[in-house]
Amino acid sequence: NEDAELCRAFDGKNVVVTAGATREKIDDVRFISNYSSGKMGFALAASAAKLGAKVTLITGKTALQTPQGVQRIDVESAREMLVAAEAFFTACDMFIAAAAVADYRPASPHEGKIKKSENVFEIQLVKNPDILQLFGTQKSSKQVAIGFALEAQNPMENAKEKLAKKNLDLIVLNSASEPGAGFEVDTNVVTLIGKDGTLEKLPLMSKLEVAKVILKKSSFFFGKDM
Ligand code: CTP
Ligand code: CA
Repeated sequence: NEDAELCRAFDGKNVVVTAGATREKIDDVRFISNYSSGKMGFALAASAAKLGAKVTLITGKTALQTPQGVQRIDVESAREMLVAAEAFFTACDMFIAAAAVADYRPASPHEGKIKKSENVFEIQLVKNPDILQLFGTQKSSKQVAIGFALEAQNPMENAKEKLAKKNLDLIVLNSASEPGAGFEVDTNVVTLIGKDGTLEKLPLMSKLEVAKVILKKSSFFFGKDM
């Protein structure tokens, strides 16, 4: 049956999942971050492990429990996430970037605690490395790269552009506006866009169900070498 086939596809495969929000230090007591809960990434890690994959979950700070059978690596910043991920770049069969990585970090975090003084306080930000793009553009044709996209404008067009630019096999477009989608909730509304041009809009589902559909669709790209 379908499940047995999926288990065969994932059995023994090395799957790396990034999850959650990164924290970028302003000083020793403050940081820049975002509202990502890590739930989608944890659901993907749990599902892949259930299917028999060897799963490494690289996650930003979250209160979520480590899924059964998953190797978890906790990181704080985007650069720490990159260092942790890079160690698996060559060995992994599938890289799933579900993390909400901060695009920018404070250029020079202060030591200690910044004192309040001026009315206007500026923090200079510099761009973080794009972990998924680094993986996608250096991966072998046998490795599968999966990304997410959250778009406010022109969602389809922008998601397809990311798929191409980062050399992904599949991109999961998160609906920004629909009820039941978003950061803290246990459900999601997504559209899967494959590099083969396939498009699949999923109805409102639990993040665990969404994870399973993503993995099923992704397994199609194993050994495809295209
Ligand atoms: N991503 C990443 N490293 C970054 C930024 C993003 O690995 N520094 C990954 C995310 O995990 C996600 C995908 O890239 O899978 C797309 O992230 P998104 O924020 O939607 O796109 P960006 O490329 O950062 O572009 P923008 O935020 O400007 O839309
Ligand atoms: Ca971004």
